[in-house]
Amino acid sequence: MKKRNLITCALPYANGPVHIGHLAGVYVPADIYVRYLRMRGRETLFVCGSDEHGVPITMAARKEGCSPQDIVDKYHNIIKRSFSDFGITFDIYSRTSSPTHHKFASSFFRKLYDEGKFIEQESEQFYDPEARVFLADRYIMGTCPKCGNPDAYGDQCEKCGSTLSPEELINPRSKVSGAQPVKKMTKHWYLPLNEYEPWLREWILEGHKEWKSNVYGQCKSWLDGGLQPRAVSRDLDWGVPVPVEGAEGKVLYVWFDAPIGYVSNTIELLPDSWEQWWKSPDTRLVHFIGKDNIVFHCIVFPSMLKAYGDGFILPENVPANEFLNLEGDKISTSRNWAVWLHEYLQDFPGKQDTLRYVLTANAPQTADNDFSWKDFQTRHNSELVGIFGNFVNRAVVLTHKYFDGKVPAPGELQPIDREALAQIPTLKAAIEENIEAYKFREALREAMNLARVGNKYISDTEPWAVAKTDLERTATILHTCIELCANLSVAFAPFLPFSVEKLNRILNIEAPSWDDFGRDDLLPVGHMLNPAELLFSKIEDEEIQKQLDRLDAIRAARKAAEEAAAPKVEPAKAPCTFDEFGKMDIRTATVLAAERVPKTDKLLKLSIDTGLDKRTIVSGIAEYYTPEEMVGKQICILANLQPRVIRGIESCGMILMAKEKDGKMRIVAPEEPLANGSTVG
Ligand code: 2FM
Ligand code: ZN
Repeated sequence: MKKRNLITCALPYANGPVHIGHLAGVYVPADIYVRYLRMRGRETLFVCGSDEHGVPITMAARKEGCSPQDIVDKYHNIIKRSFSDFGITFDIYSRTSSPTHHKFASSFFRKLYDEGKFIEQESEQFYDPEARVFLADRYIMGTCPKCGNPDAYGDQCEKCGSTLSPEELINPRSKVSGAQPVKKMTKHWYLPLNEYEPWLREWILEGHKEWKSNVYGQCKSWLDGGLQPRAVSRDLDWGVPVPVEGAEGKVLYVWFDAPIGYVSNTIELLPDSWEQWWKSPDTRLVHFIGKDNIVFHCIVFPSMLKAYGDGFILPENVPANEFLNLEGDKISTSRNWAVWLHEYLQDFPGKQDTLRYVLTANAPQTADNDFSWKDFQTRHNSELVGIFGNFVNRAVVLTHKYFDGKVPAPGELQPIDREALAQIPTLKAAIEENIEAYKFREALREAMNLARVGNKYISDTEPWAVAKTDLERTATILHTCIELCANLSVAFAPFLPFSVEKLNRILNIEAPSWDDFGRDDLLPVGHMLNPAELLFSKIEDEEIQKQLDRLDAIRAARKAAEEAAAPKVEPAKAPCTFDEFGKMDIRTATVLAAERVPKTDKLLKLSIDTGLDKRTIVSGIAEYYTPEEMVGKQICILANLQPRVIRGIESCGMILMAKEKDGKMRIVAPEEPLANGSTVG
């Protein structure tokens, strides 16, 4: 077994607070893992920090009307506080705007540059002439040529799902200033990922078949698709400046600089010994991330480290999770569809463990998963309160009642006692096995199974009833219960640190180590317990309703905004040529007779005089005109439309109608009657 464990969590962008999706996907699983390793006495370093560069930060600054520095200062502090409030035990939580990071990231780039590891290349990129910034595809918006959505992005239309390029957008505009983008030449440095492809194939596809299937699968599809050189610089005035002469106005690409942040933050914490962690074959490096970060942690960052050489280790595992949805909808910072951690704590003070519990029990480990407030309430009330809390409370209250709060001496154990105690080592092994395989959901289930064992045991043995006749037997039962409680303190310690601290206070013990787990003599006979307190209090329906009302209000506001922004008229059609228009023979005509087409609501059969001939047209206007209203009306028709048989009647032409978007229709006719057969154009 390797000596050290270096555990990192994705550096969150400091452009907004953190929400339950962050916690579920990355930070809670990593914290469970780290707490477990530490409890097992394994040397562990847990590193994270804020990702403070890149376009998301500059966009947030524009939106909030302040500087990027103001944005990162504000959100770095909010995020750091949220992590600490939820008991995420980083050894360091720093930031990529730190001087240590700027210095190290800069020297990292410079070494690769000096060693000729980059390709230098000029290319034309979209540029916002007003804001004077180059624009990534996502920052160009315009009308989708496929469906007319006026807010399609330069890489995709979210309405019809089409993949687009910025060139295809009708009326493209910059998301930054609204100006029309232009093309401009610019120079950048590229890491030739293609050169690392054979090595990556060997390292991942042959060497890491044990990685989670979602991670392995994504890597395989990137590698099978063929890797391309990737730009590692950007034209931007916010970030780590490219440390090369003539590179003014250029910074390191955020995805180049952010993962280096893992190293710089270690350097900041351990300036003299950081290399022990990053360059020793005796260190296991594990990156906890969300699925959108897989390519950067499995392909790009390892290639950067490989290019750098100098003994840098590579990740042993990258247990990436899928995404968490909220009440069936994708969590989104920009749409405010999230449960923000700092707001959660205002509404549920002291209930950090409930969220840790629910997010782990529902973790999006192998597929996207959903968070719902009803499930949150049910899991809390029936599992934490009803099983874990209920068992501990009954055991402690009864020990106070019958034995003045002192752990009683057991008599001879009966089979039911031995069976309950025998579950402890079995469940311990299951928890270990699952945590070591990054299956935290399953591990938590086993911990809760131990609480179930205790709860069932106390219900089956009924010490409150036995006490009426047999205090000696009651002592054995309660002794067994208290030993189970002490073991629960270890079993839940990685998952529910706040509740376990409370449990230890009630049991009047120091936190037991993992090695203590499985023992049935954790509390000596005569050990004095503290007074009982409830581990968990019930969550009432009104508290949940308040959360649901908040989400309903957000949904309603979003719907109203979408409706207000929706175009009032049909979007413009793709251009056509004069020749194409000229092919249409549009004429004035007069309706001679009209009748409903039997068994239809919408169709009228019209006999008309076109000036050229007399003919029949079947038209879907019965909702808007009666046959009587039509007779004698002058209309315009597309006279050379190929005849079509509708309900057994040959329809020769089409009446021109004006139609409001999703609304009523009216005939289009000359302002005053003209001879039938007059041309329209
Ligand atoms: O996706 C994100 O939120 C990124 N800020 C993660 C960066 S992880 C690392 F490379 F620093
Ligand atoms: Zn579209």
